[in-house]
Amino acid sequence: MPRFFNTNAFRLAAVYFAIFATSVLALLAFIYFSSADFIEQQTDETIDAEIRGLAEQYREHGLAGLIEVIQQRVAEARRTPSRIDDTLYLITDPLLHSLAGNLEHWPPVGERGGGWVAFPVSETHNGVIETDQARASVIVLPGNFHLLVGRDQREARIFRGRVTHTLGWAALITLGLGIVGGFFMTRNMLRKVDAVNRTSTRIIHGDLSQRVPLTGSGDEFDQLAQNLNEMLDKVERLMVGMRQVTDNIAHDLRTPLSRLRARLEVTLIEKPDVVRYGDALRDTITEADRLLGTFNALLSIAEAESGSRRESLDTVDLSEIARDVAELYEPVAEEKGLALPIDIADRVMVRGDRHLLSQAIANLVDNALKYTADGSVSLSLHANSSMARIEVTDTGPGVPPDRRDAVFDRFVRLEGSRSSPGNGLGLSLVRAVAMLHEGAVWLADNQSSPEARGLTAVFELPRVVDRTVLAPHETARLLPAPAGAAGSSSEPPRDLGHT
Ligand SMILES: Nc1ncnc2c1ncn2[C@@H]1O[C@H](COP(=O)(O)OP(=O)(O)OP(=O)(O)O)[C@@H](O)[C@H]1O
Ligand SMILES: [Mg+2]
Repeated sequence: MPRFFNTNAFRLAAVYFAIFATSVLALLAFIYFSSADFIEQQTDETIDAEIRGLAEQYREHGLAGLIEVIQQRVAEARRTPSRIDDTLYLITDPLLHSLAGNLEHWPPVGERGGGWVAFPVSETHNGVIETDQARASVIVLPGNFHLLVGRDQREARIFRGRVTHTLGWAALITLGLGIVGGFFMTRNMLRKVDAVNRTSTRIIHGDLSQRVPLTGSGDEFDQLAQNLNEMLDKVERLMVGMRQVTDNIAHDLRTPLSRLRARLEVTLIEKPDVVRYGDALRDTITEADRLLGTFNALLSIAEAESGSRRESLDTVDLSEIARDVAELYEPVAEEKGLALPIDIADRVMVRGDRHLLSQAIANLVDNALKYTADGSVSLSLHANSSMARIEVTDTGPGVPPDRRDAVFDRFVRLEGSRSSPGNGLGLSLVRAVAMLHEGAVWLADNQSSPEARGLTAVFELPRVVDRTVLAPHETARLLPAPAGAAGSSSEPPRDLGHT
């Protein structure tokens, strides 16, 4: 309960209730005062009409006529005693002695020159003496006779009593309704918030599969719940991905570590021998280097993915980087008997990290050379006004279309590739680098190969336009992006011009 009163929902309900109750009470008060005013005004008007009528009688029929009329009125009023709006009449001589009327004496208002007076009157109603204020008009007739016509305020008092009574009930009902309504409103709101809280608590305790239940009403709480659920879906996907990566890392590092350990153990068991010891140590260093390589690749990917280097990107010459990579791999191609033709546009500038870009292009060329047995691997760089596009094309076995997304995940290697060295991290880094540079990378068929074999890896990133060197007249046929290109989701432009 104390928690209930501490909630925002309750406070909101309370404020609403206060405003509602104040408005209702103000309305009732307005009705009360304006009706009471109206009744008083009506009474005054009736008195006024009556006294003017009587003055007329006096003028026409003299004092005797007036007295007779008053006596008639009083007699008439006596015959209907239940009427509550009895009119008070009194006509007096100049000494204020009663001549006729239903008031016994001149009221204690002194002798007046005429006008409105108020005085108390007592009346017996159902055996009870009730004292009320009376309001009357006085006219002094020629000869100093005084005529008083008035009414007691009993009717107004009863009316006020009734209105006060009604007001009381209305206030009570409003209060009751407000409290009950506020309670239900608060409870309803709390229930919805509680659903979110319960779910979050379960998630905090480790059950990531929990989702906030939707009521289906489509209100703002449902919207909130839906957004939270979508967020949770995303977090869960990321967590599962992370777990998978961690598992893969553990698995991938365990094998070489066990191998390393076994080799050292065997070396120790056998007879000590300087040459064998030397060999074992050299092997160990090679294996350790490989492990370090894997770690470094993982760290590079993580760093590129985190985007922490985004601030330190510089304008770099992609053409120069691509040429350096080609030069670096020239001997490897030669050794494998593969041609490595290059077609690199000049001075294509991009905002990027020289080291990471070089690493990404190298990974693509490395793959092409590694998985291609014969034929050629070509490296090209073209650009249009907004994008720079690198293509690495080979005549190797290619990657089946349904695996072209998956190979970008960490540690994913295709069946046929297991015999060649590698960890399955190369393309992951390329994708991370593409994302860091707000670019994209995807795989496609090598369409330039006559036997339709081989793969084209396309790496695209936004270009920094150097207007002095941009020549928009040349064009190149470039591959359209397949659905699900890794990296940024922007559709790659179809026609890119050489520079
Ligand atoms: N040019 C290609 N031709 C055929 N298959 C490829 C090509 N490039 C990549 N692949 C496939 O995609 C997989 C993933 O490539 P990735 O570069 O990520 O890892 P890797 O080359 O196996 O190892 P690493 O690059 O870490 O040394 C490869 O194992 C291979 O099966
Ligand atoms: Mg690779």
